[in-house]
Amino acid sequence: MQKQPFAQPPFASLVEDHKKVKGIIEQLLATSATAKKTRQDLLGTLKKELESHETLEEKLLYPALKQQKPTHDMALEAYQEHHVVDVLLDELESLDFQDEAWKAKLRVLQENLLHHIREEEEQLFPKAAKTLDEGQLNHIEQGIEQARR
Ligand SMILES: [Fe+2]
Repeated sequence: MQKQPFAQPPFASLVEDHKKVKGIIEQLLATSATAKKTRQDLLGTLKKELESHETLEEKLLYPALKQQKPTHDMALEAYQEHHVVDVLLDELESLDFQDEAWKAKLRVLQENLLHHIREEEEQLFPKAAKTLDEGQLNHIEQGIEQARR
């Protein structure tokens, strides 16, 4: 059984993003190679969601985590995991929607993303909640809320 995601503020809204992104990928995986317009639209939505989510984490959360010993290495790893997902997304965009490799690439993107999300929800976020002080957590929460407005 999968562990419950760690979803206290300021992590709760990031966990909501994760759910949304996972849902879009499921929808994409259900498309057929002839559904060009649907693939295009869903991929556009996925890109928008991922970009805004990654920016929030990279600008507001990871810098604070990088400065703390218990979360330093995991934060560095998280940046790289985002990067891999971005590369796969770019490749997916330039690949012909009808190419037989398209869905295979999407599955690899999904695997990478699920791994990253699991590490965040089960390890990094709980560790961050313990490591950062209340002031830092409030600051991150406010930053996220402001950016979403
Ligand atoms: Fe992330």
